[in-house]
Amino acid sequence: MANVVVVGSQWGDEGKGKIVDWLSSRADVVVRFQGGHNAGHTLVVGGEVYKLSLLPSGVVRPGKLSVIGNGVVVDPWALLAEIERIGQQGVKITPETLLIAENAALILPVHPAVDKAREALKGKAKIGTTGRGIGPAYEDKVARRAVRMCDLADAEVLKAKVEALLEYHNAQLTGLGAETLDPAEVLAQLQEVAPKVLPFMGVVWQKLDEMRRAGKRILFEGAQGAMLDVDQGTYPYVTSSNTIAAQAATGSGMGPGALGQILGITKAYTTRVGSGPFPTELTDEIGELLGARGKEFGVVTGRKRRCGWFDAVLVRQSVKVNGITAIALTKLDVLDELDELRICVGYKYKGEVIQHLPALARAQEEVEPVYEVHEGWKSSTYGARSWADLPAQAIKYVKRIEELIEAPVGLLSTSPERDDTILVRDPFED
Ligand code: GDP
Ligand code: IMO
Ligand code: MG
Repeated sequence: MANVVVVGSQWGDEGKGKIVDWLSSRADVVVRFQGGHNAGHTLVVGGEVYKLSLLPSGVVRPGKLSVIGNGVVVDPWALLAEIERIGQQGVKITPETLLIAENAALILPVHPAVDKAREALKGKAKIGTTGRGIGPAYEDKVARRAVRMCDLADAEVLKAKVEALLEYHNAQLTGLGAETLDPAEVLAQLQEVAPKVLPFMGVVWQKLDEMRRAGKRILFEGAQGAMLDVDQGTYPYVTSSNTIAAQAATGSGMGPGALGQILGITKAYTTRVGSGPFPTELTDEIGELLGARGKEFGVVTGRKRRCGWFDAVLVRQSVKVNGITAIALTKLDVLDELDELRICVGYKYKGEVIQHLPALARAQEEVEPVYEVHEGWKSSTYGARSWADLPAQAIKYVKRIEELIEAPVGLLSTSPERDDTILVRDPFED
């Protein structure tokens, strides 16, 4: 089976964009299957930096099809702005290179308004969302009132849906003490944007089925990470979609049997942006060092990411809930200067050592990491392109991670640059 699903195995920002870009040379099509423009995926090719939020990370490779599946929530204005921005970097997006599912739900201006108003009201208890309207848009989808891509093609349906949607949300906005939106204005905005996005619309499940039968290689690109999954993550401090590998099937319209290998992108330490539990978080100078060396600032919101030690309990849990067959370990170079490193190998909770992160939010806050200490390698791995270039202590650290998380390393990344990547085993050939 020559398809590969890429997912984040921690709290997002593991380097999915870099790895998807690298792998896309071996694929025919790259498919986003959940999330929206809350994602921020960075690609660096010959020094040129591309920041993608909605467009799949295969777009910079000529001749590859990009697909936005039905599981994604699409903000049409954000999409057009991204197409424009990436166009200025010389990447031309056309209806021949980008296909958007007709049954994808849209993010309308009311969604970020509700998202922000709710967060403001929560004060200290806020989730720390990206403010992009992701949660409210998924709620509308599940509540069966969402405006979808296909509705843009039917003026009558669109009008009725927008009116009903705003009737619902305006009551909520009033309750939240926020400004309401004028349905006529939103409708006019949608009518203006419709002819610009409709040319990209198509029947994604059918296209992917055709490609699968023609023996084409499909690469699925996840956003966020398993610990932000609405079922398996640190609920309620999660995003509003399923981010785990199984969603590649439901979010694209392919059967689960077609998914192939599951590659979990895994940072050699841990980061998280936004609120919520983080057992191995470092609020000391080592945390600062990781943040500075790793340039840990959000792509979408510019927020500083929280940093901490590698958490093997959490990643092993992620390996299991995703069905990860191999990991791509990224940002090993960020650890180069450390005298010693720690890996979390268990949690102390109520006088016992446990081997999983419990679902109870209070327990997630209370668990204390049990650490194993490793000697640092104190030399540069930055830009290394073969195992032979890695210091012995670095190899030992990687091997220990493999053992603890119960999954092998398939790829190793040593800088933001596309080609600073070590291939251990090709997921398309496994
Ligand atoms: P994504 O959301 O998973 O695609 O990851 P982001 O792009 O949000 O964050 C990952 C950051 O790390 C980006 O700035 C990448 O350019 C950078 N990056 C990826 N791999 C490596 C690596 O191996 N070493 C270093 N130093 N940076 C990396
Ligand atoms: P990529 O794909 C890291 C976090 C937000 C917040 C929570 C909910 O770049 O890895 P939302 O706006 O989705 O309702 O916010 O999820 N979050 C991410 N954190 N990387 C991401 O995407 C994220 N997308 C959302 O910070 O804590
Ligand atoms: Mg990111």
